[in-house]
Amino acid sequence: MKVTQVRTAGGSYPVYVGQGLLSMPSIWQRHLDGRVLVVSDDTVAGLYLERVGRVLDEEGRRWRSLVLPAGEEAKTVANWQRALDALVELGAQRDATVLALGGGVVGDLAGFAAASYMRGIRVVQMPTTLLAQVDAAVGGKTGVNHTSGKNLIGAFHQPAAVVADIDTLISLDDRDYCAGLAEVVKYGAIRDERFFSWLESRAEPINAHMPDALLEAVHASVQHKAEVVAADEREAGERALLNFGHTFGHALETATGYARFRHGEAVAIGMVLATRLSELLGKVRVGTAERLVHLLEHLKLPTALPGDVDRERLLALMRLDKKNRADRIRLVLLEELGRATVETCPTDDIREVLERS
Ligand SMILES: NC(=O)c1ccc[n+]([C@@H]2O[C@H](COP(=O)([O-])OP(=O)(O)OC[C@H]3O[C@@H](n4cnc5c(N)ncnc54)[C@H](O)[C@@H]3O)[C@@H](O)[C@H]2O)c1
Repeated sequence: MKVTQVRTAGGSYPVYVGQGLLSMPSIWQRHLDGRVLVVSDDTVAGLYLERVGRVLDEEGRRWRSLVLPAGEEAKTVANWQRALDALVELGAQRDATVLALGGGVVGDLAGFAAASYMRGIRVVQMPTTLLAQVDAAVGGKTGVNHTSGKNLIGAFHQPAAVVADIDTLISLDDRDYCAGLAEVVKYGAIRDERFFSWLESRAEPINAHMPDALLEAVHASVQHKAEVVAADEREAGERALLNFGHTFGHALETATGYARFRHGEAVAIGMVLATRLSELLGKVRVGTAERLVHLLEHLKLPTALPGDVDRERLLALMRLDKKNRADRIRLVLLEELGRATVETCPTDDIREVLERS
């Protein structure tokens, strides 16, 4: 097992990454307090809730569960309200704990319920997707979607602990697993060339879910996220670099109605586009994008825009961000593998990259 301590102004907490952690109460029980509401979704609950519930029963803790339908559609204000209702019905006091058992959807919603109930109670994150383990569960961003926008309602609320059991990733759908790897590659691309090279050399064992490689990949990613969050808890400076690939990626997700690509898949394509733009603008050595494409393809991720996606629509969606001016768009670019920067880029150059892809 590996432990990373995340230090922020909002609190310091451990992130445990290891095998078999769900069945190891000695690791996580001490981070619980009061009555416990376990929030999960119907896929994850079917696989892991009984195991967690057994631990809670054995220590005689008062607890109940709230099981939501699986998927992004469940990240609603109505389900956040259901979580608050469940806390009230449980008789939860200020010392109560919310235990988020699931992917990023459960983590965001449960975290936001914990942030808002009685002005903030503790939350322990037990992420069960690769994306949630390497990204969503660490850093304290919580929230739900509004009909007019994703993650429109939320709060910063750091967890009391994060328990990332890599054994849970075995049951993950292949596409969800690969989508999570896009965020792992991102840390290498923007912060750590050695980690990027290590991923290139370990793509096969990672694809095969080999525990040693996976443990190292998740742990290294958590350390990167922890360092960025510690330096910039509220996203003023360095945290913005984590958006590498995301401006293109979000536009692609929106243009395709959030139905065609997993978030990580859209980010993979977005990272390639952002790197091609970095090359076009002379920021990074030509050939960097090809190296990135090679690694992403090895990890079974898409790297090219589908031909039927309207490039002008993507550009229009990218322009929507309030921080942009009419002829320039703020984007994260690469200066080299392992180093990134935020720049405002000419729309014409972005158009050229989109049209060539
Ligand atoms: N808070 C943050 O900083 C942050 C960062 C990135 C993403 N997010 C959010 O995370 C969400 C996406 O997270 P996600 O990709 O984990 O999606 P998700 O929570 O919807 O999980 C994806 C699917 O995998 C299933 N699943 C989860 N764990 C499983 C397991 N171990 N075995 C089998 N199936 C399992 C789920 O039921 C779901 O169907 C988005 O809502 C996004 O906005 C938040």
